[in-house]
Amino acid sequence: MTAPFTTRLQSELDEFKRAGVYKRLNYLDAPQGARTVMEGRGDVVILSSNNYLGLCNDPVVVAAGKAGLDRFGAGTGSVRFICGTFTVHRELELALAELVGTEASLTSVSCWNANEGLCATILGENDAVISDQLNHASIIDAVRIARQIGKCRSLVYRHSDMADLKEKLVAARGARTRLIFTDGVFSMEGDVAKLADICELARRYDAVVAVDDSHATGVMGKTGRGTAESAGLLGQVDIITSTLGKALGGAAGGFTASSAALCDYLTQRSRPQLFSNALPPTVAASALAAVQVLRAQPERVTRLHESARWFRSALQEAGFKPLEGETPIIPVILGETALAIKMSDALLDEGVFVTGFGYPVVPQGHARVRCQVSAAHTAEHLELAVRAFKKVGKKLGVI
Ligand SMILES: Cc1ncc(COP(=O)(O)O)c(C=O)c1O
Repeated sequence: MTAPFTTRLQSELDEFKRAGVYKRLNYLDAPQGARTVMEGRGDVVILSSNNYLGLCNDPVVVAAGKAGLDRFGAGTGSVRFICGTFTVHRELELALAELVGTEASLTSVSCWNANEGLCATILGENDAVISDQLNHASIIDAVRIARQIGKCRSLVYRHSDMADLKEKLVAARGARTRLIFTDGVFSMEGDVAKLADICELARRYDAVVAVDDSHATGVMGKTGRGTAESAGLLGQVDIITSTLGKALGGAAGGFTASSAALCDYLTQRSRPQLFSNALPPTVAASALAAVQVLRAQPERVTRLHESARWFRSALQEAGFKPLEGETPIIPVILGETALAIKMSDALLDEGVFVTGFGYPVVPQGHARVRCQVSAAHTAEHLELAVRAFKKVGKKLGVI
């Protein structure tokens, strides 16, 4: 038994427990798919996963991971520049660059790391980063680190407000480099960055554009190549960061895609690259297979888009008011956190696993259940989910 901490830390821990604000973890006992097995609950339909293309348990992706394990062993045993770079890293990086339409890419153990490594490496004292108000926490923290270490300026523009972005660009005119950083798809709202406008403003004000496409890679665009593809801007976005932990097999890992020069620079200078182990080769092998499946089977993306459209309008017809949008992230805003949690629990009782989000993940009064549709869902899965939503929505007075 660990003895209680004797410092203020223990009273903080006790207070946290008393407040009862921590979230119960759900333990899954089967792979992510359209359905899974939740410990104590049995078989449930998942409407909460980033497994957008259904590749988490795809036989080809799983087999590639096993083959990677046999060929390369369990891990890299080192950071990349010492002896932790395997041939599978190079293959994956070439495939990712081709997928998102850049000259090169560089993988990392997470997109969180990719964002932190990017900002802290390229932003210094005379630079400025201009960030969307609703950017993911990894970008917010990346900016904080760059501000503290690199002493760069940071400015935040109102969510997707191009007039405000323009104002911030004007305010940052004196900076050596101006970096506009935005999510491609915003994870809590499910809306898409106004990439064409952002790139146009960047051209006008000589800024660099970085897009975190974690919820867009494999999802956006006709063939899943991301927000750049959906905006008709493939090959025109300066820097794309993204995750391997969602559509591309869902294991873990991230990447930065850009010019070869920038990727080389990050390889040599980014601190998470220099001082932390590389992506495990098994994960790299699975992610590579996931990219190959995506390139060979664009119909997965078509199915994802069709299913998302169907599900959003089925919820509307049932009387819910999901946020408008074109992505498979479909949030149903409920207001109070307690109601979102209640709704999520009641849906689980009906065999549908969809997470409720409240403050501080989303602003006060905007608690929601966030549905995420996958290409793995069949019509039956989605119809079952809609039936459950109707039943629970009526019971809780939401519809
Ligand atoms: C927009 C965005 N960026 C980055 C991340 C972090 O990705 P990773 O799990 O690879 O660190 C997430 C994960 O939720 C995300 O939604």
